Amino acid sequence: DHAYDMIVVSNRLPVDYEEQADGRVGWKSSPGGLVTALEPVMRAADGAWIGWAGVADREFDPFEHDGISIIPVPLSESELEEYYEGFSNDTLWPLYHDVIAPPSFHREWWDAYVRVNRRFAEAAARAASDGAVVWVQDYQLQLVPRMLRESRPDLVIGFFNHIPFPAYGIYSQLPWRRQVIDGLLGADVIGFQRVADAGNFSRAVRRLYGYRTHGTVIDVPVTDSNTPDADVRRVVARAFPISIDAAGFEEMARQPEVQARAAEIRESLGNPETIILGVDRLDYTKGIRHRMKAFGELLRDGRLAVEDVTLVQVASPSRERVETYRQLRDEIELTVGRLNGDYATLGHQAIAYLHHGYPRDEMVALYLAADVMLVTALRDGMNLVAKEYVACRFDNDGVLVLSEFAGASDELRQAVLVNPHDIEGLKDAIVEAVRMPRRERTRRMRALRRRVLDNDVAKWSASFLETLTGAGIIKPGIT
Ligand code: G6P
Repeated sequence: DHAYDMIVVSNRLPVDYEEQADGRVGWKSSPGGLVTALEPVMRAADGAWIGWAGVADREFDPFEHDGISIIPVPLSESELEEYYEGFSNDTLWPLYHDVIAPPSFHREWWDAYVRVNRRFAEAAARAASDGAVVWVQDYQLQLVPRMLRESRPDLVIGFFNHIPFPAYGIYSQLPWRRQVIDGLLGADVIGFQRVADAGNFSRAVRRLYGYRTHGTVIDVPVTDSNTPDADVRRVVARAFPISIDAAGFEEMARQPEVQARAAEIRESLGNPETIILGVDRLDYTKGIRHRMKAFGELLRDGRLAVEDVTLVQVASPSRERVETYRQLRDEIELTVGRLNGDYATLGHQAIAYLHHGYPRDEMVALYLAADVMLVTALRDGMNLVAKEYVACRFDNDGVLVLSEFAGASDELRQAVLVNPHDIEGLKDAIVEAVRMPRRERTRRMRALRRRVLDNDVAKWSASFLETLTGAGIIKPGIT
C-alpha cells in the first residue's frame, strides 16, 4: 500500500467510468469546474485523488490516469439517490444557492450523507502518509474534515467550498446546521470563492457556536468547554477565488485548426453579424430562462433581428434524475421551441440549442466564434466559463456580459455587469454588447485578460496550499 503526501478528496473523480451501448467500457474525463481547476495541480504534485467513479454499485481498484493516482470510492444505488441526488443536490445545492429552488429536507438523506462522508474520510485516512496534506473539496463532503481530524490528528487538512455559502437567514433553515459547521471546522483552512461567502460562514460559526473570530481566523476550542481561557485551534476561513489554466486556453485558441473550426461554426450558422453564446450545465442557478426571455423580447420588439443575431446555447446534461432538473429541461426546451417557432426563418435559427457536453477544443472554437458571451447566473460560486471566454480572446475582442451574482464579478469588473432578474436591464445590456464599438470592446477585454492571465489556477492552488502548510497555522498546544 502506497502512502501519499498530498491527497485531494472530491465527490467526483477527474474521470467517469462509462459503458457505451455497444458494450465498450472506459474512463472519460468528467465535467465540471472542479476537475478543470484541480487536474493540473494534481499532476504536478504526484498525489492521489480520492473520489466516486460516477456509476453506482461498482467497485474499482486504484489506478493511474494521466500521471495521477486514482482511488475510487464506491456508492450504492441507494447512496447515489440519498447522498448525491438527495442531500447534495436537492438539499445543499438549492439551499447554498439562495433557495432559487426549494430545498428538500429528509432525515434519511442526512443519514446517507454522514455514512458516505465517513467512507471518503476512511479512504483518505488509509491513503495518507504521516503528516500528509489532505485537501477536501466542495459541499458534498463537508463532514470529512472533522472525521479525518478525529482519526488522523497528524494530517494537515484543507477544505475548499466551490459553491456559495449563504447568509445565515438561509443557512439556518438546515436542520443539521450545527453538524455541518462542526464538520468543516475540522479543517485547518476553509476556503471560499468570495469574501462575502467567508463572511457568511464566520457569522454562522459565531451564531451557532459562539466561537471568537478575528479577521479571517476562528478560535476553535480544543476541548468541549468554550471558556475564554480554553485551548484553541486556529482555523483560517477566507476567500481564495478559483481560476482556470488560462495559458492553456489561450494556447488552444491560437491553434490554426481551432480558429478554422471557429470560422466553420460561423459559416454553419449562416454567417450572422453577431453570435451570442451561453455555455452552462443545465442548472436552474444559471439563469438560462432569464437569458432566453430577454433575447426573445428583443426579437419580438424588433431591437434585434433574427437575420443578424443568433443565440447559441450549450446546455450540458446534468443531474438528470433530480426532479427540479427534469422540469428545468422541459421548460427550457419548450421555450427554445417557441422562440424558434415564432422568430426563426428557414435560413436563420433564433436559438441553436445543444444539449451536449463538448471537448475542450470545440468549446474554445465556440468562444472564438462568439461576439458576445452571456453569463447570467442567478447565483454561482465563481463561474469558470466567464474566465475561459476571456482567456481565449487573445484577439482582444468579444464582449462578456456577466451577472453580479457570479463570484467572477468580484474580479471581472470590466465586463458588462447585469442583474439577471432585471429583464429590462438585461435586454439593454445585450443590446449594448451587440452594438459596442471595437475600441471599447478592446479596452475592456484587455483589462479582463490581464486579470485572468495573472490569476490562474496554479496561483489559486499555490496560494491555498501555502496558507495551509505555511506559518499561518498554529497547532494545538502551541497557541
Ligand atoms: C459544480 C460543483 C462540483 C460538481 C460540478 C458538476 O461545479 O461545484 O462539485 O462536480 O458542479 O456537477 P456533478 O453533480 O455532475 O458532479
